[in-house]
Amino acid sequence: MSETLLSVEGLRTYFYTYAGVVKAVDGITLQVNKGETLGLVGESGSGKTVTAQSIMRIVPTPGKTIEGTVKFEERNLLRLKESEMQHIRGKEIAYIPQDPTTTLDPVYSVGDQLVEVIMRHQPVSKRYALAKAIELLHSVGIADPEIRINQYPHELSGGTKQRIAIARALSCEPILILADEPTTALDVTIQAQILELLKDLKQKLNVAMVLITHDMGIVADTCDRVTVLYAGQVCETGTTEQVFENPKHPYTEALLSSVPSLALRKETLSVIPGSVPNLIHPPSGCRFHPRCAYSRQVCIDKDPELEPIGEGRFVHCHRWKELDLKSAVAS
Ligand SMILES: Nc1ncnc2c1ncn2[C@@H]1O[C@H](COP(=O)(O)OP(=O)(O)OP(=O)(O)O)[C@@H](O)[C@H]1O
Ligand code: SF4
Ligand SMILES: [Mg+2]
Repeated sequence: MSETLLSVEGLRTYFYTYAGVVKAVDGITLQVNKGETLGLVGESGSGKTVTAQSIMRIVPTPGKTIEGTVKFEERNLLRLKESEMQHIRGKEIAYIPQDPTTTLDPVYSVGDQLVEVIMRHQPVSKRYALAKAIELLHSVGIADPEIRINQYPHELSGGTKQRIAIARALSCEPILILADEPTTALDVTIQAQILELLKDLKQKLNVAMVLITHDMGIVADTCDRVTVLYAGQVCETGTTEQVFENPKHPYTEALLSSVPSLALRKETLSVIPGSVPNLIHPPSGCRFHPRCAYSRQVCIDKDPELEPIGEGRFVHCHRWKELDLKSAVAS
């Protein structure tokens, strides 16, 4: 049996805005096992980033995590003192934020930024930290690291910036990396290179990863297991093989059918009719019901349970037993 590294249960993070309470993350449960990559997938606004921010305890105001547990190696992160959490951030869990342009500080050189992170968590000399920074840049495939180290973010391409963000995430040898859409802002060839790099690093370093994406093609290519989110809730979780070959939730089926050839990775999720609901006044019952081809009265009346249906396999749908959903493999 796989060893659980991170276990999130019943996580709720709401934003208390003037317009009302945005239920951005509303009862999310997921697990990451040691050394594996979990894909966290869903349309824009489904709560992927807020889930990662909640795990790291960096939810911006007016957001607040009001319920749930985030168990990381036996510690509930939501209960730790801020000083203890600071030790975990960067050292044990590294977060690569969604936008590579905001990841790096424009006023510091690449070397200064890497050295600062290394020295914050490790009792090493500046000279050692600099040597380590050069080695890290080399390990993420950056040519001439001795030159790059003196450059500033505005002198670098998007792909190079993302490689540096990955190098910074790796600098303290974390056990878990949360990578928020690490390739979305990049063009297709660079995307493929960064994904190859992440796969390669996972193999070499045995680091666990939560890979946030809206692209099922990336999940197929990169992830061991997958959790599908919709409107701040989990639709289903399983191994990538289970979810692709035997999806149990109608939203997953819709996501899979929006990628005509998984190898092409061109389609976005916009082909699913309708849009992600307003999270201040979400639909009654199952939040997916206004867009679901299989909806019945029970779906409008009652929110389904997130039901365990096998080891590490969960589904959040009243009708999963009776539906015969299309797999990605057959299409
Ligand atoms: N600072 C904020 N204030 C108010 N609402 C917010 C804030 N940040 C996020 N939200 C809301 O929380 C919900 C989830 O947002 P989140 O950023 O997690 O989505 P996402 O799945 O990461 O989307 P994307 O694919 O576009 O990055 C959205 O409805 C969003 O509007
Ligand atoms: S509970 Fe009903 S509306 Fe929701 S996904 Fe299942 S069948 Fe569709
Ligand atoms: Mg996001």
